[in-house]
Amino acid sequence: MSRRELLDELGDLVGPAHVLTGELAASATTDWTGRWSGACEAVVRPGSTAEVSGVVVACASRGVPVVPQGGNTGLVGGAVPQPGSVVLSTRRLAGIGPVDDATGQVTAGAGATIGAVAAAARAASWRYPVDFAARDSATLGGTIATNAGGHHVLRHGMTRRHVVGVEAVLADGAVVSHLGGLVKDNTGYDLAALLCGSEGTLGVITAARMALAPADGDRAVALVGLADLDHLATVVGHLRRAAPEIEALELMLADGLNAVASHLGAPIPVPGAEVVILVELVARRDASGLLVEALAGLDAIGDTAVATDGPAAASLWRWREAHTEVINAVGPHPPHKFDVSLPLDGMAAFVAEVRADVAHHHPGALVWIFGHAGDGNLHVNVTGPAPDDQSIDELVLTLTAAAGGSISAEHGIGRAKRQWLHLSRSPEEIEVFRSLKRALDPGNVLNPGVLLP
Ligand code: FAD
Ligand code: MLT
Ligand code: ZN
Repeated sequence: MSRRELLDELGDLVGPAHVLTGELAASATTDWTGRWSGACEAVVRPGSTAEVSGVVVACASRGVPVVPQGGNTGLVGGAVPQPGSVVLSTRRLAGIGPVDDATGQVTAGAGATIGAVAAAARAASWRYPVDFAARDSATLGGTIATNAGGHHVLRHGMTRRHVVGVEAVLADGAVVSHLGGLVKDNTGYDLAALLCGSEGTLGVITAARMALAPADGDRAVALVGLADLDHLATVVGHLRRAAPEIEALELMLADGLNAVASHLGAPIPVPGAEVVILVELVARRDASGLLVEALAGLDAIGDTAVATDGPAAASLWRWREAHTEVINAVGPHPPHKFDVSLPLDGMAAFVAEVRADVAHHHPGALVWIFGHAGDGNLHVNVTGPAPDDQSIDELVLTLTAAAGGSISAEHGIGRAKRQWLHLSRSPEEIEVFRSLKRALDPGNVLNPGVLLP
């Protein structure tokens, strides 16, 4: 059957206006960083779960791979299509239902952005605590499929912790739906949990029932200069013990801050510090008092800038959140992005080792480090090497494994890391992954080439 017949059938299913080809499909074939690009037959935008099922069946019956795509903000090339495939965009599945005030739960379509889910929660005096800079593009479905982390993992956990149930379309078009929202429900395998982190390889998530957190009370944010990275583990331990209300504990280094300062055209609020942490605390009342008290118990801290109102807190957060866009613009190529987690007391040695080895093997390359320090999660970006120079990936990921770390803390495996999955998962675990894939998608229709080596 020809490509034309496939496109006609897809047009009959979702409406011709929602089958995009050529230039109209172009933005779906390259990732946010620009490092990963591909091609597709079409981008299809179904408007209901039944239409998603129809699209999957139409593609599967012709052996055409289906690449689920939400906001296309993923950082491991997992939503980038390969030639001959169809991109299934979930963006029209963006409805958000009423917040259930008794349970603090909401059901939303997979294509709703997490910013929109957070706004709906806020309007009902609740809060959706999964949050990060791509909030206005990243979708609920994409964040479940990658089990996204972000700024508040320390207190609220990753996306998985908030998923109560999902609706999804499997590779044969079957719809599995468990959106009832019962708080306790031990009735066998947890399909929602299985889809968390599955990166589009086991099913297309069409909707999810999410657990919210109680609304924000009072919020305070501080930027704090530290003497060096050696103190980080002690600082994190102290702050966690001193104030369980701390939600974010983020790391920045001087070179990243200087680059952000040039971009923002503003002076760094804690000038001269080599290591800076951002600490955010949310409490029913007196967040700034609790934060100042927690910081007061720390040795060896330098300048501190504290913000207690919304706009001032947002401008301190801008120093941390702008790292991604600023580093992406350094050039001469998009960065090689690594998202590793490490034992906290090994972070300083790891950073020194990465810097030394990169300087030795890739003279002239720049190493940028920032991340979610409280979670032991470092974002290591290397600019300079060409996009297809995988020796830098081999170097950083091997060092990560040798330091007892994970090659992906929160971004997932995608296409970028799959050949190194063995560094973090045993052969037995990878064989279980393969068995699950064979059982749920024997024809290898859903996102082939992603996650599994
Ligand atoms: P996409 O990029 O479209 O897809 C990501 C993966 O999920 C792909 O494998 C895709 O096939 C699959 N997928 C998408 N939708 C579905 C669905 N409905 N059903 C099944 N599979 C699906 N990530 C973090 O964890 N923490 C951060 O702090 C963070 N900060 C970021 C900041 C910036 C500026 C940017 C650009 C990205 C950041 N990310 C972060 C990465 C990214 O936003 C997350 O991975 C996010 O979860 C991706 O959501 P998305 O809707 O864009 O998914
Ligand atoms: C972040 O924490 O800012 C993100 O995960 C994005 C990145 O790694 O660049
Ligand atoms: Zn991150």
